[in-house]
Amino acid sequence: MKKTYLKQTKIRKIKIIDVSIDWVNWLNDKQIVQFSKQKNNRHTLSSQKKFVKKKLEDKNSVLYGIFFEDNHIGLVELDLIDKFNKNCEISYFIGEKNLWGKDIASIAINMALNEAFNKLGILKVYAGVYSNNYPSHRVLLKNNFKKEGDLKNFYKYNNNRVSKIFFGLDKKNYKKI
Ligand SMILES: CC(C)(COP(=O)(O)OP(=O)(O)OC[C@H]1O[C@@H](n2cnc3c(N)ncnc32)[C@H](O)[C@@H]1OP(=O)(O)O)[C@@H](O)C(=O)NCCC(=O)NCCS
Repeated sequence: MKKTYLKQTKIRKIKIIDVSIDWVNWLNDKQIVQFSKQKNNRHTLSSQKKFVKKKLEDKNSVLYGIFFEDNHIGLVELDLIDKFNKNCEISYFIGEKNLWGKDIASIAINMALNEAFNKLGILKVYAGVYSNNYPSHRVLLKNNFKKEGDLKNFYKYNNNRVSKIFFGLDKKNYKKI
């Protein structure tokens, strides 16, 4: 993973005041949400505030904003935190498409993994990814995740069925950048 934008990239827990028209527009952008159920909903400032409020009350989720040069550009979430089994799911997106391909998501994911493994006591993080979402595979592989499962014909994608690929990372294989 390239560290070119390491200094400019930060994550912090999201707040209600982070909800913005930019964020709403990211969620209404068909290209950004093509690999998410969000593509079936119309998003507004009010629906988004409701969503964030619910997340802030959810003890099994931590939602971080991704900031590039102090501007909010995306999200990374630790969800389905299972305190007994010490595992959780990770998901992410970069809403500012002009910043794609610069390793920013990979860096932000690395930072969220540090929180999971070194602050929340998590031992295993996993992600479920559309088989045709190549950039998403890459950000996980660059963070040392391994492909650990393949559920065939899981998702509807346009007129096709595609697999859900499970990627997993054990704490012992995590490398902080
Ligand atoms: C997936 C996503 C978060 C990646 O963010 P990013 O900051 O561009 O990620 P990185 O720059 O760290 O890595 C992207 C990788 O995908 C590759 N890539 C392929 N097609 C690409 C494209 N159209 N745009 C950007 N990167 C692309 C890049 O080359 C890079 O791989 P490399 O390091 O081997 O060159 C971003 O594309 C996104 O938000 N997509 C929409 C939401 C989404 O799919 N989220 C994941 C759901 S599981």
